[in-house]
Amino acid sequence: MAMDPKAVKSDLVLILDFGSQYTHLITRRIRSLSVFSLCISGTSPLSAITELNPRVVILSGGPHSVHTPDSPSFPAGFTEWAQSNGVVVLGICYGLQLIVQRLGGEVQVGEKQEYGKMEIHVERASVQGLFGSKRVGDRQAVWMSHGDEVARLPDGFEVVARSQQGAVAAIENRDKRLYGLQYHPEVTHSPEGMETLRYFLFEVCGVAAGWKMENVMDEEIKVIKSTAGIEDHVICALSGGVDSTVAATLVHKAIGDRLHCIFVDNGLLRYKERERVMETFEKDLHLPVTCVDAADRFLSKLKGVVDPEMKRKIIGKEFISIFDDFAQELEHKVGKKPVYLVQGTLYPDVIESCPPPGSGRTHSHTIKSHHNVGGLPKDMKLKLIEPLKLLFKDEVRQLGKILDVPEPFLKRHPFPGPGLAVRVLGDVTEGNALDILRQVDEIFIQSIKDAGLYDSIWQAFAVFLPVRSVGVQGDQRTHSHVVALRAVTSQDGMTADWYYFEHKFLDDVARKICNSVRGVNRIVQDITSKPPSTIEWE
Ligand code: XMP
Repeated sequence: MAMDPKAVKSDLVLILDFGSQYTHLITRRIRSLSVFSLCISGTSPLSAITELNPRVVILSGGPHSVHTPDSPSFPAGFTEWAQSNGVVVLGICYGLQLIVQRLGGEVQVGEKQEYGKMEIHVERASVQGLFGSKRVGDRQAVWMSHGDEVARLPDGFEVVARSQQGAVAAIENRDKRLYGLQYHPEVTHSPEGMETLRYFLFEVCGVAAGWKMENVMDEEIKVIKSTAGIEDHVICALSGGVDSTVAATLVHKAIGDRLHCIFVDNGLLRYKERERVMETFEKDLHLPVTCVDAADRFLSKLKGVVDPEMKRKIIGKEFISIFDDFAQELEHKVGKKPVYLVQGTLYPDVIESCPPPGSGRTHSHTIKSHHNVGGLPKDMKLKLIEPLKLLFKDEVRQLGKILDVPEPFLKRHPFPGPGLAVRVLGDVTEGNALDILRQVDEIFIQSIKDAGLYDSIWQAFAVFLPVRSVGVQGDQRTHSHVVALRAVTSQDGMTADWYYFEHKFLDDVARKICNSVRGVNRIVQDITSKPPSTIEWE
C-alpha cells in the first residue's frame, strides 16, 4: 500500500503522458515548486483521471501528429468533466494540438516546421492568462519541437503569443480555463519557462503548494502504521544504498523494532564496506540490523564462473535463500511469520514513458527488473511496503536528510547489487583479484574525495582485468595485473559520459596504486561513454 496522493497537503497536477521525452522532467519541475505532480498514460480512461482528483491537468507533448489515425488522445468527456469541476487544463506542444483539434479547430502540417531555439513575443497579457506577468510585445527564447501547427482556433480561444515566423506559440480560452503552449516551458532552453509555469500554477490556477518532504514523511508514517497494524512484523534487506536505507529508516520511525533488517556480506563488498555501513545503520540510524556473513556461501558458488549473467543469477539465488532463512529464524524468534517486505522502489522504476508510436505497446506500468538482484521466493508470501514509490531520487535524498541519514551516506555513488563480482572480469575467486580490487578502489575513491570531485562524478570505480602485463618495479621484471579506472557523469545511469580528470590527478592516482598495491603494475582509464559501452564492465 502506497501513500494516498490525496492525503498530502498539496493540490495535484496530473500529467497525461503522450510520450514526450520531457514528461518526467515536467513532473519533477512541478514538484520543485512544492506542488504534487503525478504522471499517467495519456490514454487512461476518464475514471482514472477523475479518481485522482487533480486541480490541474497537463497534456504532455509527444512524437505524434493529430492527423495520424489512432494517434493517442484524452478520453471522451474529459474537457466537459474538467470544466464542470473547475479543473484547469494546459496542453503542451502535441497536447495543445489535441485541444485545438478535439474542440473543433484545425491543425495542419506546418509550412515552416519549428525545431530548437526560437523567439516568441507576447500578444496578449491578461491577469488570468499565461503571460499575466508580462507585457504585450515582450520577447523570450523558447524551445520548440513541432511539425504541425495551429491553422484555426476553436471558438472562444485566442492567440496570446506567436513565434517570429508568425506561428501560434500560445493559446487561451480563459472562460473555459483551457490553455496551450506550443513550446516546452519545462526545459532549460526555455529560460523563462519555469516562471511561466509558476505564474500559471499559482496565479492562474491557484494551486496549494504543500508537497514538502516533511508532509510526505508524516503521511507515509501514517500509512505504514495503518498497513502494518499493531503487531505485524516487517523485514527489509539493506544494501547499503540510499534507497533501501531511507525506506528502512522511514518504516522504523513508523513501527519501531517490529522492523527487522538484514545486511548480507556476500564477500563482494568494497574495502571496509561492511564495517562502515553497519556503523551508520547502528550508530547513526539506530536500525535493528542483522549482519549475515555469507562470503563463503557466495564465493564457493562463484568458483570457476566467468559468465557475467551466470554470476548475477547465482548471486540473486543466494540472496533469496538467505532472506528465506532470515524470515524463518525470525518466525522462531518472535513467534510470528513476517508479513511485509520493505522495498526501496522509486517513482522512475514505476512509470515508464509511452513507448514510441507504432511500437504497438501502450504505457507500461511494469517495474524495471533489469538490475534487481533476483526475485522473491514464492512461498515467502510477503506483501510489499514501498514507501518511496512516488518519489524521485532527489526527493529521496531530501527525505533522508529530514530523517537524519548522514549526508555523505545520501551522496554515495550507486553500487551494484552483485557488487565487485561485476567488476572482476572472469572468475572472482581466482588469485587475490577481489583483494587487489578493494585496495585499488579505495585509493581511487579516496583520491577523488580528497580532490573534491566526488559529488561531481555520478559513479567511479575500478575494474580488475584478468590479464597480466610485463613491468619493471625495483629493478625487477614483473608480470602483474592491469586495472582499469572508470568514472562517469550521468543524470540517471541510462546514458553516461566519462569524466575528464586532470592529467595530474590521473598521474598521482596511478603512481599511488602501483606503489602500494602488490600485484598491479599497469593502470588504464576507461574513456567510453554509454552507449556504446555500459557503465559496469560486466
Ligand atoms: P550499466 O552498467 O548497466 O549500469 O550501464 C547502470 C547502473 O546500474 C548499476 N548496475 C547494477 N545494479 N545490479 C544492481 O543493483 C546489477 O546487476 C547492476 N548492473 C549495473 C551500475 O552500477 C550503474 O549504477
